Amino acid sequence: MRKGILTIGATVAALSLGLTACGGDDGGTTAAPSGAPAASGASIGKIGVILPDSKSSARWETADRKYLKEAFDAAGVESDIQNAQGDKTAFQTIADQMITNGAKVLVIVNLDSGTGKAVLDKAQSQGVATIDYDRLTLGGSASYYVSFDNEKVGQLQGEGLVKCLTDDKVEKPIIAELNGSPTDNNATLFKNGYDSVLQPKYDSGEYVKGPDDSVPDWDNAQAGTIFEQQLTQQPKIAGVLAANDGLGNAAIAVLKKEKLNGKVPVTGQDATVQGLQNILAGDQCMTVYKAIKKEADAASQLAIALAKGEKPAAPASVKDPESNRDVPSVLLDPQAIYFDNVKDVVTDGYVTKDELCTGDFAAKCTEAGVS
Ligand code: BGC
Repeated sequence: MRKGILTIGATVAALSLGLTACGGDDGGTTAAPSGAPAASGASIGKIGVILPDSKSSARWETADRKYLKEAFDAAGVESDIQNAQGDKTAFQTIADQMITNGAKVLVIVNLDSGTGKAVLDKAQSQGVATIDYDRLTLGGSASYYVSFDNEKVGQLQGEGLVKCLTDDKVEKPIIAELNGSPTDNNATLFKNGYDSVLQPKYDSGEYVKGPDDSVPDWDNAQAGTIFEQQLTQQPKIAGVLAANDGLGNAAIAVLKKEKLNGKVPVTGQDATVQGLQNILAGDQCMTVYKAIKKEADAASQLAIALAKGEKPAAPASVKDPESNRDVPSVLLDPQAIYFDNVKDVVTDGYVTKDELCTGDFAAKCTEAGVS
């Protein structure tokens, strides 16, 4: 049982239970795009969103921004979505500007808990409501946390690596771990998840624990350097637990140089086009698909309710391990993706066939039933 998570069937549907009460007076002065449904109240304040960067994963710009914007526009709520591009000082400046410009709610993906907390505390002191989006800010003061069950994400990665090694009948594999950023609480949760699968195998001698390193800021280039060192130190690495598709791709690039790609299974996360193509090519064992549309929808529903001055109920709560505070939360369910169900990600509309099935991947797409 995962600690600190009260799973109450955390679905957006459940969330909406707490969000049905509304009733703003109508005025329609918000920046509703033409054709959008009438805004439910002139009193709805502006909503600011700060994304972390555009390099640690393709998701932030290609998925989160798009789905959040769509949700706010559909509700006729004015939003300002910015990206701090990995710069903690810029992150704070953006937050200050959003508050000065009248934001009623801030939705943030922190770059680390320290700077995230400063932003949340300042917002709170100015009467601006806050939501931790995707990453929990440890010791922070956000009113809500919207994410996936991140230990489950890690568990799926661990199980995925085991499945691929079992399918390949590898005995006593030496495993390398390429963990996410040490400043991202999610990276800790992912690792708890995959180590809950791998550690018993290390302990029993079924698997051998190899190099185990974190990648600062999820930096993909550094991940390549780190994995190169891991492989030099331990040339017999037989499986790579990489915490997301970007880190996985960095490892695959190094494996390619050694002609080991396709022989050494590598995991991932985010169901990026690159990750899915690596799976189609046989170079990546699996990825974890997180339906970002659901995450963005849940966060935007909460943000809109907060902007109306409501106090929406949340279907779950997570204990902040630093402050011991129970943070009202929405935790969505992740899905493991292998060659055979790559098509699910396309069916769900997260990536299009056109993006995925380019060039040589067209034949692989057909083989994998992507239509
Ligand atoms: C997110 C992942 C993402 C990583 C790097 C994590 O906090 O949950 O989806 O791949 O950050 O941006």
